[in-house]
Amino acid sequence: MSQRITRAIVVGASSGIGAQLTLKLAAQGATVAALARRADALDALAQQGGGRVAPYPHDVTDFDAAPALFDRVVADLGGLDLLLYVAGVMPDVAESEYSFPKDRQMIEVNLLGAVAWINLAGAHFEAQRSGVICGVSSVAGDRGRRGNPVYTASKAGLTAYLEAMRNRLSRYGVSVVTVKPGPVETPMTEGLSLPFMIPADRAADEILAHIQRGSVSGYVPWIWRPIMMIIRNIPSFLFRRTNI
Ligand SMILES: NC(=O)c1ccc[n+]([C@@H]2O[C@H](COP(=O)([O-])OP(=O)(O)OC[C@H]3O[C@@H](n4cnc5c(N)ncnc54)[C@H](OP(=O)(O)O)[C@@H]3O)[C@@H](O)[C@H]2O)c1
Repeated sequence: MSQRITRAIVVGASSGIGAQLTLKLAAQGATVAALARRADALDALAQQGGGRVAPYPHDVTDFDAAPALFDRVVADLGGLDLLLYVAGVMPDVAESEYSFPKDRQMIEVNLLGAVAWINLAGAHFEAQRSGVICGVSSVAGDRGRRGNPVYTASKAGLTAYLEAMRNRLSRYGVSVVTVKPGPVETPMTEGLSLPFMIPADRAADEILAHIQRGSVSGYVPWIWRPIMMIIRNIPSFLFRRTNI
């Protein structure tokens, strides 16, 4: 790894990509604080983690609880090298549905929760003059998609926020990595048939490889880089006729 990672926080660790990241970091010898709402799923993860995974039940929309929990976790771990923000929701949204409660949940979990946790890690790592922050954004954030306007907006916001944090923190020796997966087989995509779908296990390996390389921003898998280069450049009058 570009920076040695022995103490990590994974926010959104209870299933899918976050669970795989947690177990792989533990297998590499790191001690990992696993955060999410479902305590039973975190306990099961801790059982599999060989004594290296500690569960911390937390709802990221409880923003006021984040600072004290961050301090407690860092004290328990004896320091911090990596914060991975993986938590996300993507509720089904029908073509003509305009649901503020669903939209609010996506903004609160996918973006505001990320800001709450990454701000805390950013301040800690700036003072420490080292550390790695990785945020799991999405290819969906590269264009405004008609299928789920606020999911795309939350991921576009997360991508921009991570870039800004990188530009703020790199001078202090802190690495901020943005990863943008395409479709991954997880509970979030259950029942969906999507192109170039990969298992969560492979997504986690590729995300950890980006962290190890100190990537600025990486598509997962790599095939999405050329695909998104094309999709980003489709003129708006054509893109609005598609549903990609
Ligand atoms: N699957 C894909 O195709 C895909 C593609 C691109 C990007 N992504 C992104 O990858 C990330 C992981 O998603 P996944 O596919 O692995 O889905 P997942 O299995 O549904 O995992 C989502 C995680 O977010 C946590 N979470 C949701 N709401 C939370 C809250 N209020 N407080 C704390 N934790 C919360 C969940 O834990 P609890 O329910 O226990 O709280 C769970 O650990 C998400 O950010 C997603 O947007 C996924």
